[in-house]
Amino acid sequence: MITAIVGLGWGDEGKGKIAHIESQNNDVVVRYNGGANAGHTICLDDDIFKLHHIPAGAVASNEPDLVLTHGVVINPVSMVEEIRQLRRSNIDIADRLRISDRAHCVMPWHIAADVRKGGKIGTTKKGIGPCYADKMHRSNAIRMGDLRKKLDDERTQRFFAVDETFHGQGLWQQYKEAAEFLQPMIFDTGQLLRNAVGSGLNILFEGANGILLDVDFGTFPYCTSSGVGPAAIPQSCGLPNLHLDRIIGIIKCYATRVGEGPFPSEIITPEDEQLLSTCMSESSWFKHTNRPYPIAAKEMSHLIREKGNEYGTTTGRPRRIGWLDLGLTRESVALTGTTEIALMHADTLAGIEGIKMYDDGSLIDIPSYDLDDDIHFRTHFVGKVNAYCGPVSMYSYGPDASEVCLL
Ligand code: IMO
Ligand code: MG
Repeated sequence: MITAIVGLGWGDEGKGKIAHIESQNNDVVVRYNGGANAGHTICLDDDIFKLHHIPAGAVASNEPDLVLTHGVVINPVSMVEEIRQLRRSNIDIADRLRISDRAHCVMPWHIAADVRKGGKIGTTKKGIGPCYADKMHRSNAIRMGDLRKKLDDERTQRFFAVDETFHGQGLWQQYKEAAEFLQPMIFDTGQLLRNAVGSGLNILFEGANGILLDVDFGTFPYCTSSGVGPAAIPQSCGLPNLHLDRIIGIIKCYATRVGEGPFPSEIITPEDEQLLSTCMSESSWFKHTNRPYPIAAKEMSHLIREKGNEYGTTTGRPRRIGWLDLGLTRESVALTGTTEIALMHADTLAGIEGIKMYDDGSLIDIPSYDLDDDIHFRTHFVGKVNAYCGPVSMYSYGPDASEVCLL
């Protein structure tokens, strides 16, 4: 069985949790896009794991092999830190982690460029875009397979010398140590994966980010810099004939986005929030904007953010909050070939009066629900998603990996 997991929104849909659950049934778990811009949170009993490069399969009890293909961009220093963090929780992945020799390295100058230029888009400032750009530029790019050698090049050392003036001393040394540490994990992962598919192993592809952030299909230019959905898997993994049996599209019961960019179903825009804080009364708001006073919207947005803990895993930024956008989700399902939908954070909206969904410019009222008896949730909420977007196969009712209901 070959399965892919993909976010149907702008990231942060809860892919980490579903990837962790699905990993238990797989021999190999693969990350094929993005880098440390991803933040996959897994709550297991009392432990919370926040993974950035490493696939969620890392903490699965069946200990699947973990593969990072050439589609991923890797910051070797933070990668080593992630491996060490897992070690501190007694999870040692070093002998089952395989990193592509062709994966590009995120270097300090990529991060510096992202910090300088990524503000307009609101990037995660992890150097992802500049690293992919260097891959396409080719001449300055460094891949995992030649990192050790390239670090000794005079030219690379000159780059480090410039960057150390911004980032402090010792960067080169950190990269050198990380390169030595990761060396035994570097392989031709395309060959490994072709063999794995050929021998009928169960493989899970864990997409990072979300299809609405895809560089081709997403809300360009407010998007990330790689292909995010299953269409990117064959190229990013070296699997030209890949057939996916299941494609699980992940979406929350509401929508969130971090960073800039269009968000049609947003409950209250950051600009309105800003304006609201300077308008002392309803009448001064109306005079200013000629629109109804959005205080209820502001409260709703805050309530969902706090209940759902909607703060970025990677950057800690408060996430923008909106209603589930049925039209966009339908498009995401089509773009990703989703065969089943996992609805996340059902518990966050439970008990809230006045919840809505959004479709093509209109808001649809949804009856409030309680999950102790989930009949209303199943009929009104799941029923609508089934009818508008595609078949829902499970929903999540709490942060723990065990809190999932199969439908
Ligand atoms: P996970 O895997 C949320 C967003 C950034 C920014 C835009 C471009 O945790 O769901 P980048 O650093 O990729 O150049 O930033 O994309 N973004 C994400 N937002 N979750 C993610 O991943 C994201 N990956 C990228 O916030 O708006
Ligand atoms: Mg995230």
